[in-house]
Amino acid sequence: MRAIVMTEHGGPDVLRLTEVPDPQPGPGEVVIELAAAGVNFKDVYERQGVYPKETPAVPGAEGAGRVTAVGDGVTDVRVGDVVASAELRGAYGELAVAPADRVVPVPDGVAPDLAAAVLLQGLTAHYLTHSTYEVKPGDTALVHAAAGGMGLLLTQMIKLRGGRVIGTVSTDEKEKLARDAGADEVLRYDGFAEEVRSRTGGVPVVYDGVGKTTFDGSLASLRPRGLLALYGAASGPVPPVDPQRLNAGGSLFLTRPTLVHYVATREELLWRADDLFGWIASGELSVHVGGRYPLADAGRAHEDLEARRTTGKLLLVP
Ligand SMILES: NC(=O)c1ccc[n+]([C@@H]2O[C@H](COP(=O)([O-])OP(=O)(O)OC[C@H]3O[C@@H](n4cnc5c(N)ncnc54)[C@H](OP(=O)(O)O)[C@@H]3O)[C@@H](O)[C@H]2O)c1
Repeated sequence: MRAIVMTEHGGPDVLRLTEVPDPQPGPGEVVIELAAAGVNFKDVYERQGVYPKETPAVPGAEGAGRVTAVGDGVTDVRVGDVVASAELRGAYGELAVAPADRVVPVPDGVAPDLAAAVLLQGLTAHYLTHSTYEVKPGDTALVHAAAGGMGLLLTQMIKLRGGRVIGTVSTDEKEKLARDAGADEVLRYDGFAEEVRSRTGGVPVVYDGVGKTTFDGSLASLRPRGLLALYGAASGPVPPVDPQRLNAGGSLFLTRPTLVHYVATREELLWRADDLFGWIASGELSVHVGGRYPLADAGRAHEDLEARRTTGKLLLVP
């Protein structure tokens, strides 16, 4: 098959289209012919060597498509099923392997490429709004990078739960997208904490996937006993934090959550995925695909994501 192979860590140019042997399913595994693969910041961190990843490797973890083979012991997934997973071993290829108990069925009302576009970020937005902090009607949440893949989904889910959203974005085009997704107020990053406090007196929750450049302002935007969900670091990692700052800020909570701990059981994975696909099928959740790239252009997709040029979700199409 054709796949992107990352031969070493480095810039986007280490992502090269290569002919490799078709993957075979081991016991308990399935092979999926991908309709599309999702591009995620995690793939960028792994390419850079910031997150551990041995090379050579096919990057990517997210995709959806039709099952073409199943390994020994697989009983509840069959050849021909349409499934999605955020735990593929190498999604940047025509075929990918996943453990059968880590794939989810894609219902008829959801196109496979849309399932690939929503799964990883959708599961993440789901746990952040339903579990890390359960958004209640009337809660105002601050959502950074509100026009990004995560930001658009977080915004819609907070609105579905009856909350209000203040979003931050860098451009007018991104502001429009955030407002179309339901954001009640949209700010630029400059002085956002003062603005949030003057408008609300402090919010109960901040969803921050930007990290280094927003962290201080995020803490300063919280009301006493508020929670900062620091779920990513698009601008770079946050330096070490003195816990005393949480005391001084008003007995604040700080968490650094990761998807794997919120889909630890099959029941939890299916609960979140069923909600997501149900909302898509009913039209309650829309997925904005901001860019579709041929597989060979994986490096360009990474470049665009890192340079803040993108909105919504980026897909690679084999
Ligand atoms: N913990 C988890 O379980 C989990 C799961 C999925 C994703 N994530 C994290 O969620 C974050 C967002 O991921 P995404 O794929 O949805 O990306 P994205 O939000 O579509 O793209 C990142 C956005 O961050 C903003 N940004 C601000 N400063 C930036 C900088 N210096 N460099 C790059 N971007 C900057 C940009 O929006 P503006 O131009 O509007 O500022 C940019 O478009 C990432 O940190 C990712 O690692 C975490």
